[in-house]
Amino acid sequence: MGSMDFESNNWIWDGVGYYSHLFGGIMLTAAVLGISSSYFGKIGVPSLPYLWPHMEVFHKKKYRKKPIRVYMDGCFDLMHYGHANALRQAKALGDILVVGVVSDEEIIANKGPPVLSMEERLTLVSGLKWVDEVITNAPYAITEKFMDKLFNEHKIDYIIHGDDPCLLPDGTDAYALAKKAGRYKQIKRTEGVSSTDIVGRILSSAKDIKAGNECFDNTLSEHANNMNNTKAEERQSGGAQISHFLPTSRRIVQFSNGKGPGPNARVVYIDGAFDLFHAGHVEILKSARQFGDFLLVGIHSDETVSEHRGTQYPIMDLHERSLSVLACRYVDEVIIGSPWEVTKDMIITFNISLVVHGTVAESTNFLNDDADPYAAPKSMGIFRMIESPKDITTSSVAKRIIANHEVYKKRNAKKVESEKRYYAEKKYVSGD
Ligand SMILES: *[C@@H]1O[C@H](CO)[C@@H](O)[C@H](O)[C@H]1NC(C)=O
Ligand SMILES: *[C@@H]1O[C@H](CO)[C@@H](O)[C@H](O)[C@H]1NC(C)=O
Repeated sequence: MGSMDFESNNWIWDGVGYYSHLFGGIMLTAAVLGISSSYFGKIGVPSLPYLWPHMEVFHKKKYRKKPIRVYMDGCFDLMHYGHANALRQAKALGDILVVGVVSDEEIIANKGPPVLSMEERLTLVSGLKWVDEVITNAPYAITEKFMDKLFNEHKIDYIIHGDDPCLLPDGTDAYALAKKAGRYKQIKRTEGVSSTDIVGRILSSAKDIKAGNECFDNTLSEHANNMNNTKAEERQSGGAQISHFLPTSRRIVQFSNGKGPGPNARVVYIDGAFDLFHAGHVEILKSARQFGDFLLVGIHSDETVSEHRGTQYPIMDLHERSLSVLACRYVDEVIIGSPWEVTKDMIITFNISLVVHGTVAESTNFLNDDADPYAAPKSMGIFRMIESPKDITTSSVAKRIIANHEVYKKRNAKKVESEKRYYAEKKYVSGD
């Protein structure tokens, strides 16, 4: 919360003529009545004007500051740890984080077709541990009308946005109104990743993805051949696909829960590549967590993933994949670079009581392999296949991008230019 400016918060309540000390009492009552809004699908806190006259009794005994509600929006298409980090930073500027997810229609009108459906994007956003509430179908560019709705209906105190300028079609600053009202806060852009960059990486390895994966049908071979040129072009232009991500220990700490399993906790273990973190990953992690009290996730090293899935994978490197998994609310801890084989030694080291594996996976060849990576937990009777709630895999997401590559190529070319400008003009910005 370091540099948070509390003064302007007081302005909000003084401005509408309420005394801020009353709100401590109101929120306390809301919590007692069980109507605080910390679960999904519920939007906004019910206002309780009829309770106000009785609030005085509470505030003298138990003064609590009214929770600050902050809002941030986005498309969250191909969600990555950069989005997760932005939302983490936004949450740190308040107490309750409300996230607006832009509708499919608005994305189509402004950027072209999204890779992920609204349902998938919602699953991903709701799965982040910093997100408290979600507003579906947010507008692409924030309008005055929507801003009114945020302040009045959703009781938002501050609108948060990254440090990149956001202009309306008429060239004016989209957040001018919120800034003028002192209800705008800015966060620092997360270095090293953007959806543009990820699309670039997928398009670059498209040919290899085709060649190395029998899941891709033949109709894609033509696309793949075209991609041959794209790859060369993008390499020459200093391509967007090169990762600028510099993993730091601090970032990993920021994403971690920092807690080990409690006494008598049942530790569940699941492992995988978790490449291009998608809604299927969120769902399987959610199911896995339900089998115990502590979910430990093993993330295979880049070498292990390449060895078992082909050299075109992983699209995201080990540190990037680790951050995406750590950002998920169902995950308690990760092993950064776990072995392919789940050994008895590992099981003892982490006191693992159950090893699970989803029914939908990139490849289930290991089931017939001589060297079954799950031989140890199986022999100990602690292995279990669990139903994958969603039929999504990393290659199916990559495949959607390749199938639409013409559109994405155009969209990317534009973005690559602005990204290049960003990096050329980049200066040091403080913050985390
Ligand atoms: C891909 O590009 C290389 C050189 O740029 C060329 O030799 C090769 O024939 C191309 N392959 C396809 C399938 O177009
Ligand atoms: C190991 O896990 C079991 C649950 O499977 C738990 O009952 C036990 O207390 C754990 N051991 C320690 C030392 O925490």
